Amino acid sequence: MLQNKLPGKGTNIFTVMSKLAQQHDAINLAQGFPDFEGPRALRERVAYHIANGKNQYAPLAGVPHLREQIAGKVKSLYNHAVDPDSEVVVTPGATQALYCAITAVVHPGDEVIVFDPSYDTYEPNVTLNGGITRHIGLHYPDFEINWQQVRDTINDRTRLIIINTPQNPSGTTWSEQDIAQLREMIAGRDIYLLSDEVYEHIFFDDHRHLSLLRYPDLAARAFVVSSFGKTYHTTGWRVGYCIAPGPLMEEFLRIHQFINFSTHTPMQHAIADFLAGSPEHHEQLGGFYQQKRDLFLNLMSASRFKLKPSTGTYFQLADYSAISDEPDTEFAARLTREHKVAAIPVSVFYAQKPDQRVVRFCFAKHAETLQAAAERLVKL
Ligand SMILES: Cc1ncc(COP(=O)(O)O)c(C=O)c1O
Repeated sequence: MLQNKLPGKGTNIFTVMSKLAQQHDAINLAQGFPDFEGPRALRERVAYHIANGKNQYAPLAGVPHLREQIAGKVKSLYNHAVDPDSEVVVTPGATQALYCAITAVVHPGDEVIVFDPSYDTYEPNVTLNGGITRHIGLHYPDFEINWQQVRDTINDRTRLIIINTPQNPSGTTWSEQDIAQLREMIAGRDIYLLSDEVYEHIFFDDHRHLSLLRYPDLAARAFVVSSFGKTYHTTGWRVGYCIAPGPLMEEFLRIHQFINFSTHTPMQHAIADFLAGSPEHHEQLGGFYQQKRDLFLNLMSASRFKLKPSTGTYFQLADYSAISDEPDTEFAARLTREHKVAAIPVSVFYAQKPDQRVVRFCFAKHAETLQAAAERLVKL
């Protein structure tokens, strides 16, 4: 019998809920992907590069033009200068970058701090490397970090802290106070940071994105990960990237080369061209999604769900305690089966299940999709 390296980890919740949505012909507001296309000019550029011979292996770290564009972007957005040759690596999705960064620093017995609800790949990646995940639970509706608990959790075995802002699934964003607290926690300690910033362009109202790249002292020990899938509505293309200082990146690359070696070539050329020609796309992404968030909030105001507006990502949490006492996994399944709208139960993102009745809806959808879903949800 094969020994399971990830005991207790079954099929991930996104696959489970999307399958259920399909079986019951439900509107899928569960899995985080848009039901609209990415920019036409970008898609045409992929076709162009496929037709024009960009079809062989890309360099290990990524197509140089794309790495230069990424370096230019982080300089203009976060005033952070990176060397595109030694500090930027293009990866098959942010997912692979997260795996490589965790593998680069975590040795057996090392501890890694994550903030729950946390994205579902972090812990398995730590486990596969023999590390131990220490969970700090944050709770609905504010998800504020108890920094005293972080202080109490840090010890000599703490090797890595994983940050995710804007955060999936809570739809919250870090504040300057969080950054200051983080700085204080790690001062004088040999701790690395992994900052998952795949929603870096999707933030609302008067919030802004606090990339770790804005802070030279924090960037000096950080792997910062982003995803073109989220930015260009192309989650199926699987193109992301990581930025880290040279010595960290050397170790990252050592791992990346034996897993994927390189990332799709034509997509990289197309994204580089598009980044160079249309920077307004990512600059306007927050406004684009804020309209969708506001539409969804508006439509749902007639329902018995309670919604506190998310400040970033394309997810909105909803408290259903006025509708049902069921645990969220049962409620989400029933919502899909009986009311034909699929959502994600938030408790699955916690090591210690919280006492809350909250599900996550994805609003990266056409207005008509959101309207059709809300029409069903207001009846509950
Ligand atoms: C917080 C977070 N990190 C990473 C990813 C993975 O990004 P990618 O699709 O580029 O692998 C996702 C996708 O949903 C996410 O929500």
